[in-house]
Amino acid sequence: MLPLSVVLKLLLLICIQRPSASVWLKEGWQVYSSAQDADGRCVCTVVAPEQSLCSRDAKSRQLRQLLEKIQNMSQSIEVLNLRTQRDFQYVMKMESQIKGLRSKLRQIESNRRTLLTKNFQEMKGKMADLQPLIPVLEQYKTDARLISQFKEEVRNLSMVLLGIQEEIGAYDYDELQHRVASLEGRLRNCMSRLTCGKLMKISGPDTIKTSGTRFGAWMTDPQAPPQNHKVWYMDSYTNNKIVREYKSVSDFVAGVESRTYNLPFHWAGTNHVVYNGSLYYNKFQSNIIVRYSFESGRVMTQRALEAAGFHNVYPYTWGGFSDIDLMADELGLWAVYATNQNAGNIVISQLDPITLQVLNTWNTEYSKRNAGESFMICGTLYITNSHLTGAKVYYSYSTKTSSYEYTDIPIHNQYFHMSMLDYNARERALYGWNNGHQVLFNVTLFHVIKTDDDS
Ligand SMILES: *[C@@H]1O[C@H](CO)[C@@H](O)[C@H](O)[C@H]1NC(C)=O
Ligand SMILES: *[C@@H]1O[C@H](CO)[C@@H](O)[C@H](O)[C@H]1NC(C)=O
Ligand SMILES: *[C@@H]1O[C@H](CO)[C@@H](O)[C@H](O)[C@H]1NC(C)=O
Ligand SMILES: *[C@@H]1O[C@H](CO)[C@@H](O)[C@H](O)[C@H]1NC(C)=O
Repeated sequence: MLPLSVVLKLLLLICIQRPSASVWLKEGWQVYSSAQDADGRCVCTVVAPEQSLCSRDAKSRQLRQLLEKIQNMSQSIEVLNLRTQRDFQYVMKMESQIKGLRSKLRQIESNRRTLLTKNFQEMKGKMADLQPLIPVLEQYKTDARLISQFKEEVRNLSMVLLGIQEEIGAYDYDELQHRVASLEGRLRNCMSRLTCGKLMKISGPDTIKTSGTRFGAWMTDPQAPPQNHKVWYMDSYTNNKIVREYKSVSDFVAGVESRTYNLPFHWAGTNHVVYNGSLYYNKFQSNIIVRYSFESGRVMTQRALEAAGFHNVYPYTWGGFSDIDLMADELGLWAVYATNQNAGNIVISQLDPITLQVLNTWNTEYSKRNAGESFMICGTLYITNSHLTGAKVYYSYSTKTSSYEYTDIPIHNQYFHMSMLDYNARERALYGWNNGHQVLFNVTLFHVIKTDDDS
């Protein structure tokens, strides 16, 4: 196992939008000032445009656009906040655990004579396991600086806007535009850091529905526009080509179908994915990947995944023609399969979503037939060791560094048989098919930042 502290510097930034004071100004700007909250978490400044801002001339239109941008940024921050609060609590819990363990260890060490060597060794072992987390936590604290800089910039910008308000027309709009663009760039950077990370914990499941056979797939589209929450449902792993569509999760729960699609070819397995309006699936008895567009109701692309085993040559542990697993994460579309060349071990390929051409390939050393399921988060493949009770995420492979790690992340297999497990980057959740139950797991990610010297 690679030492966490050497390879990665982890950073968890929490941004909280919580206006501590708001100031109404005559001409219609609403300015929120910022503050640090009680836990020392950063609170971002928000500048929001007043709805009735006049649009007499080009300049005020321009200005309005700038403000809209800033408002968009604030909204992004709010989203980030929601996503990261969970992680923050996790860090806090780990920290207190470490502290508790450390003081216990000290106590024990000072009282060594009364202690059995075995217990002492056990404690030491546990402590060593937790050790890599300490620099992580320290990093987390010190790097709050970064976000406060960002905060300051927003605050400065809001000062500029105040200035403009007093002297409309006299300001250099190009410069203002430039500053907003630069800020926006940095925010995007900050967001991509915050939204990607290393899997630490899987919680749940929440049972959404109980329906269908023991084996199947259900999913939503991570690339769909925010207001679109369509659910697709594909029961069974063989001899089926009917895809059911629901307008929302609540329609899905209530069984109110909005459409059905009759695919031209049967599917194999349960490892399909819906990505950016298309269904990607493995055509039965072949290593062909099919891209089917829901909008046109047609197959747009078909392409063989060269060398990939199919039809139960290299399935997951449960069988079911689960040889070729298609999935999507923050970085795009992926196929996970096995080849003879790689001795039946898992191969990861990144695919072009339009042409289905392989863009890049990584060979792992984990046997596909010994894998329960796998899913991709931020370019790292996580592999479970079983589809049965007691399954855990046992191995991970980073396509970024082409390296693997053994992991020990439990997953609660509530209904004893898992035939599908896929990450959805938009929901930041794992969709599972758990013995005829459609379930969702939450994931806790640590946000990983590569330092300058290892990029
Ligand atoms: C702000 O976000 C909305 C909705 O995502 C978008 O339509 C609009 O163009 C954005 N405005 C700016 C100035 O980026
Ligand atoms: C914000 O403005 C202050 C005062 O003008 C300046 O010293 C500081 O460097 C500015 N901060 C940023 C991040 O631009
Ligand atoms: C997952 O997180 C969401 C939002 O924080 C929460 O409503 C839901 O109960 C969580 N589910 C599980 C299985 O922890
Ligand atoms: C999604 O599809 C639209 C066109 O339908 C395309 O413009 C966009 O680039 C696609 N996005 C991704 C991430 O492939």
